[in-house]
Amino acid sequence: MQNKTFFITGIDTNIGKTFVSLLLILAFRQKGLNAGYMKPVETGVKINKDGSKNYIDGHYLKEISGLEADIETVTPYTFQSPLSPYAASKFEGGTVCLKEIIYKFYDLKGTYDYMIVEGAGGMLVPLKQGHFMIDIAKYIDAAVILVTKAGLGMINHTLLNIEYAKSHGIKIAGIIINNALNETDESVLSNKKILSAYTDIPFLGDIPYLQTEKDLKDRDLLEGLALKYIDIENILG
Ligand SMILES: Nc1ncnc2c1ncn2[C@@H]1O[C@H](COP(=O)(O)OP(=O)(O)OP(=O)(O)O)[C@@H](O)[C@H]1O
Ligand SMILES: [Mg+2]
Repeated sequence: MQNKTFFITGIDTNIGKTFVSLLLILAFRQKGLNAGYMKPVETGVKINKDGSKNYIDGHYLKEISGLEADIETVTPYTFQSPLSPYAASKFEGGTVCLKEIIYKFYDLKGTYDYMIVEGAGGMLVPLKQGHFMIDIAKYIDAAVILVTKAGLGMINHTLLNIEYAKSHGIKIAGIIINNALNETDESVLSNKKILSAYTDIPFLGDIPYLQTEKDLKDRDLLEGLALKYIDIENILG
C-alpha cells in the first residue's frame, strides 16, 4: 500500500480498534519502522480526583507501546459523556475543530514513518454538525482499515460498511477481523471465505480472542501476535 497514514474504523464501538492499532504499531516496529498514534476525539473520558483526564485508548496504547507523544496531542478532544462527539459537545458545550485535528495530526506525523489514527465508534458517528467521524480520514488522506467481528452478523455489518464507503467515495484499504467478543458460533469458521465472495478488499488480519487481561498488556506476547496475525507485508505493499 502506498499510503503511510491509516485510519482505523470499526463496525461498532468496542470492536477492538485500539487493540488493532496497537498491534499495527508493534508490527511496524518489528519491520524497523516507527508508527505514531492519534485518537483525535474520545468520549466517556472521566476526570480523576486530581483533575487529570482518564484517557482510555491513548493511555493504554502509550503504556504498552511506549510511544512518547504527549497525551493532549494524541487526543486533543475529550468529552466526559459517553455519547457521540457531536451529542457530547452539545451537552457539555464546546465543539470539535477539524482544522485543529488536522494541524495536530501533521505535527505528529512529522516524527514518524507511519501514522495510525483511530476513530471513535464507527464511520457514521456524528463528529460535529454536518460531519461524521469518517470525514477525518478524508481530510488526512488516510487509507481506511475496517475492524470487524468474527461471528454471526459480521458479513452483514462488514458489507454495509463497505457499501456505504463505496457509495461515498471512501476507499476501504483492508479488513481486520478481531475476535474481541470471543465468538465461537459456527459462522466463525466460514465468515471470511463467504465474505470474500462479495468483496475484493484484502483481509489484513484475523486476530483471535485473548483469554486474560494480563495477555492484553503483555508487550512480548502482543509483538508475537502482531507478527503472526497481521499481514504487515501487504500493508507495506
Ligand atoms: N482480540 C481480543 N481478545 C480479547 N480482548 C480483546 C481483543 N480485542 C479487543 N479486546 C478487548 O475488548 C475491549 C474493546 O477493545 P478496544 O478498546 O480495542 O475497542 P475499540 O473499538 O477501540 O473501542 P472504542 O470504540 O471505545 O474506541 C477492550 O477491553 C479490549 O481489551
Ligand atoms: Mg478505542
